[in-house]
Amino acid sequence: MIKMNPHYAKLNASYLFSTIAQKIEAFQAAHPDTDLIRLGIGDVTHGLAKPCVDAMKQAADEMGSDTGFRGYGPEQGYEFLRAAIAEHDFRSRGVEMSADEVFVSDGAKCDSGNFLDVLAADIQVGVPDPVYPVYVDTNVMSGRTGTYSDGRYEGLAYLEGTRENGFVPPPPSYHLDLIYLCFPNNPTGATATREQLSAWVAYAREHEALILFDAAYERFIRSPDVPHSIYEIDGARSCAVEIRSFSKTAGFTGTRCAFTVVPKEIEVSDGNGSVRSLHSLWNRRQSTKFNGVSYPIQRSAEAVYSPEGTHAVDSRIQYYMENASIIRERMERAGYAVTGGLDSPYIWVETGTDSWSFFDRLLNEAGVVITPGVGFGRMGEGFIRISAFNHREKVEEAMERIVRAL
Ligand code: MLT
Repeated sequence: MIKMNPHYAKLNASYLFSTIAQKIEAFQAAHPDTDLIRLGIGDVTHGLAKPCVDAMKQAADEMGSDTGFRGYGPEQGYEFLRAAIAEHDFRSRGVEMSADEVFVSDGAKCDSGNFLDVLAADIQVGVPDPVYPVYVDTNVMSGRTGTYSDGRYEGLAYLEGTRENGFVPPPPSYHLDLIYLCFPNNPTGATATREQLSAWVAYAREHEALILFDAAYERFIRSPDVPHSIYEIDGARSCAVEIRSFSKTAGFTGTRCAFTVVPKEIEVSDGNGSVRSLHSLWNRRQSTKFNGVSYPIQRSAEAVYSPEGTHAVDSRIQYYMENASIIRERMERAGYAVTGGLDSPYIWVETGTDSWSFFDRLLNEAGVVITPGVGFGRMGEGFIRISAFNHREKVEEAMERIVRAL
């Protein structure tokens, strides 16, 4: 009989959001009349902005003619989108970036997992705790961990985010090769200051380590002094890869478009005393295993950067951030300590109780879906995450129901 990848046997249960989806399905089957309000998985609820839809339609029309038709596109993304990203997301903020350092993809989740392909199996990996579970699970799948016990995988270094450190773990005193950082953070909504990011860049340079910086929620930053990109920190171009997404920014969770930036300066060891370019390795991986994002979707993503697209996207983000303020304010008023929701669509609430029980309680007694903190790691126990992605009236009703149930 064919053998399975043995590392999958180490994975604990199902993927967090699949477990939640199963619980919701079972609840809805038992309570078909309950109007469930979902503030769990961070999925946007507003339709795509008109400039994005128009660009997608126009590109679809082009595809319908022999002259406008495009077959296989460049695996790295079309030049028009790579150039728009380099200009508007980086150079306009004073950050050096060339279009060919941007690799367009179908998702930040996919890229963060796929990136492990180009790194050795025996590297020391550090993940924050709490953390977006994809970073952990993909390391397990690729054989970079031992077994699971007491909420943790052997072989991974866990960098603890606590109320005391503002959920921004500092660099450790020991060596790591690969460090995952996500700011604004999923799940805690915390942001890192310039000084905190500088400490991580200094650590990575000293240890010749790589930072995988997930900036999927960058567009939600409101505070003027919070860095939007790791490349705003001097020296980051030689030690950090940055991943971003159009999902939460522009409502592309269903249409799929994201990008990963790999600066050409980053060098990796070939294990035999020579160095190779990480950019070339990622390019090699993408051109072998990936066939690019479809032309209409890339044209739609490009429209995010037009004046009309920027305006439409900004107003959607503003709307979600007003939801975040409402959630924050109601939970604080109900007596809970709260983080996030200021520069992030996630609100991290300390309940002090078993977080799956709290999830079940809100599901059963309020008909509201949130995410249990422990799903993001051991340090998430005693917390819940509430997402601001929903329509205003749903958010207001959810908060009333939650407060009533508590
Ligand atoms: C989340 O809710 O954490 C995210 O939506 C998951 C994702 O982006 O994959």
